[in-house]
Amino acid sequence: MRATRRHGITAALTVLLSTAGAQVAGAQSDPLTPTGRWSANQRGDAALPPMGWSSWNAFATDITEDKILASARVIADTGLAAKGYRYINIDDGWWLKRRLSDSRMMIRSANFPSSMIAGKDPSFRPFTDKLHAMGFKAGIYSDIGRNSCGQVFSSTMPNQPEGSVMEREIGLYGHVDQDIRLYFKDWGFDFIKVDACGIRGLPASNPAVKAGKYRAFVPLIDADSLARTDVPVVRGLYTQVADALAKYNDANDYLFSLCLWGSADVRAWGKNIGGISRTSEDISPHWGRMLHNLDTVSRRALYAHPGSWNDPDMLFVGSGDFDERHMTEAKSHFALWAIENAPLFIGYDLRKASPALLDLIGNARIIAVNQDRAGNQATLAFDTDEVQIFVKTLANGDKAVAVFNRGSGAADVVLTADHLAYRDTADVELTDLWTGAQSKFRKQQSLKLAPRETLIFTAKGDRQLRDGVFLSEQPGSVNAAVDGVETPQPDPLVHRAPLAWQGTRGAGDFPRYGGWGGARVDRTPYDQPLGVAGEALPHSLGVLANSRLEVRNTGYRTLRTRVGIDDSTTDHARAVTFLVYGDGRLLAQSRAARGGEAAQELSANVAGVKIIELVARSPGVGGAQISVDWGAAALTR
Ligand code: GLA
Repeated sequence: MRATRRHGITAALTVLLSTAGAQVAGAQSDPLTPTGRWSANQRGDAALPPMGWSSWNAFATDITEDKILASARVIADTGLAAKGYRYINIDDGWWLKRRLSDSRMMIRSANFPSSMIAGKDPSFRPFTDKLHAMGFKAGIYSDIGRNSCGQVFSSTMPNQPEGSVMEREIGLYGHVDQDIRLYFKDWGFDFIKVDACGIRGLPASNPAVKAGKYRAFVPLIDADSLARTDVPVVRGLYTQVADALAKYNDANDYLFSLCLWGSADVRAWGKNIGGISRTSEDISPHWGRMLHNLDTVSRRALYAHPGSWNDPDMLFVGSGDFDERHMTEAKSHFALWAIENAPLFIGYDLRKASPALLDLIGNARIIAVNQDRAGNQATLAFDTDEVQIFVKTLANGDKAVAVFNRGSGAADVVLTADHLAYRDTADVELTDLWTGAQSKFRKQQSLKLAPRETLIFTAKGDRQLRDGVFLSEQPGSVNAAVDGVETPQPDPLVHRAPLAWQGTRGAGDFPRYGGWGGARVDRTPYDQPLGVAGEALPHSLGVLANSRLEVRNTGYRTLRTRVGIDDSTTDHARAVTFLVYGDGRLLAQSRAARGGEAAQELSANVAGVKIIELVARSPGVGGAQISVDWGAAALTR
């Protein structure tokens, strides 16, 4: 095994993992076997996308207790706290060193004076006590490797760890249990973001390693290459942290934030262990990078649920292209993050915030869309490089819809009742979430959008499916447990813009985030329209064969769907059988379907069933990928 030759600790972990893997394999060698379980993460406190503030986009590593508390006070005093902003998160820059006598992490107390307690080791407890007394939750930051992002990627940022090579190893690697215990049990934090620069950027060839500043760490992640990434070992390291967090948080009131920037095929497994998981490299206050980060979440609705959200990175509202002179852009950034169920972490020095900026991030109507308890990430009802229409089904059955003009010219957009899965025989009532204005339309509504503008509404109408829901309307209750992707491939549908810290050095951006071929709403895994033997299939799920989708059932009696091999599949030789399970028991099964054959109707009685599983099986592995459709899959009463 590649890793065994490289690190003692990694080798040990790999052995552990393979033993665990063998046990799992023995118990359940076939990943398509129904489990009757919801396998996405439910540990910790992430029933809703978290909201709060983080120091990084405002201050980078130049942080102090005063600066952090000043923004916290603004959040409390302006009523933003009452609107849901409750995490106050310290990012990179808080650490001084690891004390060698007992490996305890030391705080840069000069910048966090409350951590100095006479006769005792420095502690963040007074700081978290203060935040808790103000009604906030407190977040801290670490790295899964030995060293931090600031150490690995910058030579100029202030507040870097001090001391010998070993003292400057402030990351979790080899210290997971001790550090998590200190941060959560002793210091009282509620949130941790765990970055991955220490396992990414310290090869022996790194000049700082050569100069003896850091120990080499043969990279486990190559963010530019899934082929050069050791996914199982990375997953194993993060799983250790997840387990330690569960161990030291008896009350289950914590949040684990994975920060692997969409690398290491984290889309496939991050949702099983973390509350939020980053889907891309860092956002920067540039329009193009906002589009880039948005695109890394917008086609992944089936990978985000209450308990496990996609994280396109923190808000940059207030800075650069999203500052007060660019309110159109700032509003788009905020509205899109909200409707995509992104964490809403303000990244701005709120001491400087104008009333207009505070109003924007305090827009209660838009926050309510983000915090809707059904947890359905918006899906794309219309998708082009210029105009997109995002639709999110709310817990009360209404819709939220964001109409987004990505381009630099004005756009004429027609919003139809069908985009909202409403009938065009009745009025659709709209509430404009920017102004509160109400209006209605029948069939369709013409809208004019300024460059880069987002219009956002809630909509009430006559549902096409009156006595139930299409699964495509409730991705928060559908988990792509096994999506049939055999080899992770980079997703090519992401807007390419220069990465801030790299600029235009090098050859530019290229597809890098594993995700291509994943399960989709209203599209095939390769972004084609859904259809079987010439029959168009609206309101459907598209997925590869040899997949298993988990569906939560909240009191519906019947599941109905039209299944078949999607017309985009060129391989007509292989057959696929569609199976519906209820809490692990087979409820319905199709005949073996082949490409070009008409869709088959499947119906199952799911009364009393909690977890439905939709399995598409095809004998044999490899070769051409087969796209299958769970056509108009719906739950009815
Ligand atoms: C990485 C993360 C950022 C931030 C910095 C801190 O780049 O992706 O969000 O935490 O590290 O150095």
